[in-house]
Amino acid sequence: MESYSKILAPSLLAGDHGNLAEGIRLMDDSGIEWVHLDIMDGHFVPNLSFGPQTLAALRPRTKLFFDTHLMLDNPHKYIEAFAKAGSDLISIHVEPDYPIAETLKRIRELGCKNGIVLNPKTPVASLLPFLPDVDLVLVMSVQPGFGGQSFQKHTIEKMRQIHDWRKQHGYRFRLEVDGGITRDNIASCAQAGVDTFVAGTSFFKDKDPAAFTRFVKTL
Ligand code: DX5
Ligand code: ZN
Repeated sequence: MESYSKILAPSLLAGDHGNLAEGIRLMDDSGIEWVHLDIMDGHFVPNLSFGPQTLAALRPRTKLFFDTHLMLDNPHKYIEAFAKAGSDLISIHVEPDYPIAETLKRIRELGCKNGIVLNPKTPVASLLPFLPDVDLVLVMSVQPGFGGQSFQKHTIEKMRQIHDWRKQHGYRFRLEVDGGITRDNIASCAQAGVDTFVAGTSFFKDKDPAAFTRFVKTL
């Protein structure tokens, strides 16, 4: 099984929404490779963040990999817009009722990598039909909608289960965690098999984001 380099993917949701380009610059200056972009519709999650126009405005300013997390009830209606805006990867949730398999396939046809996401309370078995056809699995360690929440420890078991399935079947997807990740709990996620770590609040509040970035590479 391919073992993936460990990547810290800071969430721009935790940046200064009055100057998002500043958050991108901090990531570039800290040696970050991926930026995690949290997209919210006020329906699937009780919050709104930013849309394709914001991504399109940020795209020419950076070479960062745009890891786009769609927390939308109808993601299939928006994947073209986010692909066109410059997403490199688009991840969609398993919970809402829409043609998931078809949407995952369409994301790849649009030239992006695809990902499937599940919330803390969603049984990990719900992912099984999609695992052979995804480039990334995202385990939410908080209930999506807001940054700054506390890490839900019980989700570590789900990360481990997904990692076991990945090893058993030789799947090649990256395993990502999102929500309440800090320097103190990130190693326990890495031990469960996670290789890609979303950190919003802890990245922007860190006294040395570049050192945090380097630390993650050593996990
Ligand atoms: C929740 C968001 C947050 C964000 C990370 O919908 O997806 O999890 O990315 O925020 P922190 O790191 O502040 O929990
Ligand atoms: Zn996210």
